[in-house]
Amino acid sequence: MKHDIVLITGASSGLGRSLALTLARPGRTLHLGGRNQDRLHAVAQHCISRGAAVDVAAHDVADRTAMAHWVKSTGTLDMVLACAGITGGTRAPTTPDSPPYEPDAQVYRFFQTNLEGVLNIVLPALEVMRSQPRGADGMRGRICAISSVAGLVSYPGTPSYGAAKAAVDRFMVATGGNTKKAGILLSSVVCGFLNTPMTAKNRFPMPGMTDVDNASRRILRGLKRNERRIVFPLWLAAGSRFMDLLPIKLAEAYYTHQPTGAAGSMPEPDLS
Ligand SMILES: NC(=O)c1ccc[n+]([C@@H]2O[C@H](COP(=O)([O-])OP(=O)(O)OC[C@H]3O[C@@H](n4cnc5c(N)ncnc54)[C@H](OP(=O)(O)O)[C@@H]3O)[C@@H](O)[C@H]2O)c1
Repeated sequence: MKHDIVLITGASSGLGRSLALTLARPGRTLHLGGRNQDRLHAVAQHCISRGAAVDVAAHDVADRTAMAHWVKSTGTLDMVLACAGITGGTRAPTTPDSPPYEPDAQVYRFFQTNLEGVLNIVLPALEVMRSQPRGADGMRGRICAISSVAGLVSYPGTPSYGAAKAAVDRFMVATGGNTKKAGILLSSVVCGFLNTPMTAKNRFPMPGMTDVDNASRRILRGLKRNERRIVFPLWLAAGSRFMDLLPIKLAEAYYTHQPTGAAGSMPEPDLS
């Protein structure tokens, strides 16, 4: 499958930035999305210096109309990488008898960005790809969305982040079973902690932390192998699957004694 025209969301930072830089080369067009214009343009310049042709679009992925317009305006897409995302945990209790909590605005914003924001890219991208001719290998394109190991567990420290990521993973893996017949391959990335700005201010140990450039290479290798679900580190995902099989009481007793994701240990996200 050729990968001459690639669209990446979340390209202004972290994993999306690393994927953009890894993919930048002569003969390739990169459509890069993000919101922070300065960081997005800096990544674009870097990609251009590596020989790629670059277009940038500074929009909120939660803006369904803007996303549909942007994706369709590309005309042709070989590969789409939906990386944009936001995270945050529960806030510490405010009184001795109140529980940890997520503000309502955070719950809605996480679902709008991490779930609807993915659909806002994937659905128009499917439309674009369905109208493309099949290549010599019978393929029309591929779409990959970034989920998380957090989507494998009901972790009390990150309820809405984990739930949105679980939905993304189920949607991509299940829909991929249908779209492959049309020559469109879907993938979900179930990864653990990455050393990006997203995790830089977490105040707890992050087991299995993966360097973001290694993560990019792992993802691109998985896509080359047509993996529907790209999982790393495997031991963390396997442990999380196991935890999810335990009775909720047992799993919760373990989670609530972990420093990882304890209430108030993640920076408050920018919900704008
Ligand atoms: N870091 C980890 O440990 C980890 C682990 C598992 C999965 N993931 C997932 O990997 C993906 C990339 O995360 P990262 O670690 O690279 O984080 P990051 O460095 O914080 O980058 C997040 C990117 O998403 C963009 N973004 C956020 N909200 C957006 C919105 N509403 N509209 C458009 N763009 C938006 C940001 O753009 P602006 O900054 O320009 O707004 C930025 O480019 C996310 O989906 C994340 O959930 C991360």
